[in-house]
Amino acid sequence: MSRKILVTSALPYANGAIHLGHLVEYIQTDIWVRFQKMRGHSCHYVCADDTHGTPIMLRAEKEGITPEALIERVHGEHLRDFTGFHVAFDNYYSTNSAENRQFAYDIYAKLKANGKIVSRTISQLYDPQKNMFLPDRFVKGECPKCGAKDQYGDNCEVCGATYQPTELKNPYSAVSGATPVLRDSEHFFFRLGECEDFLKGWTTGATTVNGAERARLQEGAANKMQEWFDAGLNDWDISRDAPYFGFEIPDAPGKYFYVWLDAPVGYMASHKNLCDRLGLDFDEYWNKDSSAELYHFIGKDILYFHALFWPAMLEYSGYRTPTGINAHGFLTVDGAKMSKSRGTFITAESYLRHLNPEWLRYYFAAKLNSAIEDIDLNLEDFAARVNSDLIGKYVNIASRAAGFISKRFGGELARDLGDAPVLAKLQAAGDELAQLIENREFSRAIRDIMALTDEVNQFVDANKPWEMAKQEGMDAELQRVCSILINAFRLLTIYLKPVLPRLAADVEAFLNIAPLRWVDAGSLLLAHCINPYSHLMTRIDPKAIEAMVEENKQALAPIETKPALDYDVPPIAETISIDDFMKVDLRVAKIVEAKAVEGADKLVSLTLDIGNETRHVFAGIKSAYKPEDLQGRLTVMVANLAPRKMKFGLSEGMVLAGGGDGGLYILSPDSGAKPGMRVK
Ligand code: 2FM
Ligand code: ZN
Repeated sequence: MSRKILVTSALPYANGAIHLGHLVEYIQTDIWVRFQKMRGHSCHYVCADDTHGTPIMLRAEKEGITPEALIERVHGEHLRDFTGFHVAFDNYYSTNSAENRQFAYDIYAKLKANGKIVSRTISQLYDPQKNMFLPDRFVKGECPKCGAKDQYGDNCEVCGATYQPTELKNPYSAVSGATPVLRDSEHFFFRLGECEDFLKGWTTGATTVNGAERARLQEGAANKMQEWFDAGLNDWDISRDAPYFGFEIPDAPGKYFYVWLDAPVGYMASHKNLCDRLGLDFDEYWNKDSSAELYHFIGKDILYFHALFWPAMLEYSGYRTPTGINAHGFLTVDGAKMSKSRGTFITAESYLRHLNPEWLRYYFAAKLNSAIEDIDLNLEDFAARVNSDLIGKYVNIASRAAGFISKRFGGELARDLGDAPVLAKLQAAGDELAQLIENREFSRAIRDIMALTDEVNQFVDANKPWEMAKQEGMDAELQRVCSILINAFRLLTIYLKPVLPRLAADVEAFLNIAPLRWVDAGSLLLAHCINPYSHLMTRIDPKAIEAMVEENKQALAPIETKPALDYDVPPIAETISIDDFMKVDLRVAKIVEAKAVEGADKLVSLTLDIGNETRHVFAGIKSAYKPEDLQGRLTVMVANLAPRKMKFGLSEGMVLAGGGDGGLYILSPDSGAKPGMRVK
C-alpha cells in the first residue's frame, strides 16, 4: 500500500554557513526520503531557512544590509550547498514568508482562544545605549560561581554553571559594551504546564504506521522527556520586544513572536507553498484526523522544542501532531568537537571544493543508526573505508565484467544466467535491507550490503573471468559469469541508490536502464545491451583531505561578540607571585614642581613629595602634559626603583602612567589620598 509521508529536517538559521555537522542530519533525512520514493510511496521532503531573531538582525546590521537582503543571500548559499550534497528537498522555503505569517497568526489565535496564552510583566536586562532588551547570549560578564571573565548570560564555559543573566558580575552588553540595566516589559507566555497530561500521553503513546505500532519518540528521547516532566513544565515566553526581526504579534504593537514560535510553523509554511505549487491538498496532511505520516528529523539539542512545544502548539490549535521525531547526535571530527583552529570545522562549500559529496554520504550512512548517538568522522578511516568499500569492492565489480561484455559480446548480456545462487541471495536481501533503512539502521544496512559485495567478489575470484577469456570454447560461460556480475552490480546499486544517487544515475546510464526502483530487485537483466563502461568513481586522495583541513584552519578570533577596540591592547605579561609584586614599593606622590627640561623634548622634570622625603624624577610625558598642569596633582610612583643616572641628572624613581604611542595618562589616586601612602 502506498503511504503518504511528509518529512522535514531542522530549519538552519539564515546567518551562517552550512558545515559538516549540519550535513549529518540532511544526509540522513535525504537517504530516508530517497528510499521512501524508491519504494513507490508519496513522500515530500520540505525545509526552509530559519530567518528571524536577534542574531540575524544584528548580523545584517553589522554587514550594513537589511535583514531581508541577508536572508535572501544566505538562502542562495544554503540551497547551493545542499544541492551540492545531493540533498533533494521538494521545497526549500523561508520562515519570512506570507504562508508562515498566516500559520503563525492562525496558531497563535487558536491557542489564545483556548486559554493557552497569558501575559505577564517581567524584568530583563536592557542595553541603554543600543535601546534593546538583551537575549541571554548577548549579555556577558564574570561567572557568579567561578569568576571567569567574558562568560555568556546563561552558562559558564569554564565551570559549567548555569544561571540567570542578572546573576553575572560586572555584566556588559555584547552588542555595545554598555552596562545593562533592568527594565520591565510585558511578555506573552504559552502555558505549557497546562498541556502536561496531553504531552505525557503523547510521549508514551504509539502510532500505527503501515499496520504496525511504532513509538513516536526514540527511547533516549522518551527518557529525556520524563526528566523534563519530573522537573516540571514552565510557561514558555513566546514574545520579544522591538527592535526584533520577526512577525509582529497581532494586537500587540512593538511585540514580536520569538523566533522559536514561528520556526517549526515554517515546516507547515514550506509544505503549504509546495502544495499550492503542485495542486496538492494541504489539509489532507495537517488535519487532526490525517492519515498521512509526518516525521521531523532533528538534532538532539532541539528536542525540547520539537517534542514538547511543537506537539502542544499543534494539539491546542486543532492540527495533527507528528508521527515521529527522529533525533540524532552531534558530529565529532577525529574524535573531538569540530574546531576552527584545527581546521575541522569544515564548511560544506570547502568540502565540495576538494572532495566528492557521495564519499561523505556513504561514510555517514555507514555510521548512522536510529539511536541518539554522536558520530565521528575520522578522516583517515574515511579515506580508507570509502576507497576499500566503494572503489575496491563495489565499483570494481562493474569494471571487471564490463570490458568482456563490450569487447566480446557486443555489449549484450547473456539470455540465460543458469544457476546463480549469488544473485538469488542478493535478491532475497531486499526486504531485510528495506526494513533496516525504514528503521534508520543505516549502518547495519551498509554492513549487510558490503557483506553481499564481498560474496560477489568471491564469486569473481572463484570463476576468474580473465582466465576464461583466454580459453577456447568458454565464450558462453564467460558471457554468463560476466552477466551475473553485471546483474549483481545492478542489485547492489539499487540498495545503495538512496545513499549514492549521483553514482546510481551514472550506473543507470551505463546499464542503459530506466531509473532504478526498489521493486526492480525482483527482476534481472537478460539479453539486454549495456553501454561501454566508463569510470564511475575515483579513490580519495588523502592529500585532498589535508588541503581541505588546511583551508578551514582559522586563527582564533577574539571573542566575537565583544565590541572591537580602536586601540592596541598588548598581551598580558608572564604571571608573577604576590611576593614578586610586593617587592615593588608604590607610593602616593604629590607633584610639587614640574618643569620642562632644556634639550630634552620628551621629558618633564618632576619634584615629588612622598611624605617623609622628596624625590626628583624625569618622566617621559611631555607629549601628553604641559608641566604647569601637573603642578599640585597627586599621582603614584615606584619609590624603590634603583636611581638611574641620566644625561640631565639623577632620576630617583618612576611615575605610573597608562597608554603608550596612542596617548599617555598618568595615574591619580582617589581624593583623600595623602603623599607617602603605600599603594598595593
Ligand atoms: O537550532 C536551529 O538551528 C534552529 N534554527 C532549528 C529550527 S528547527 C524548526 F523548528 F524550525
Ligand atoms: Zn564559572
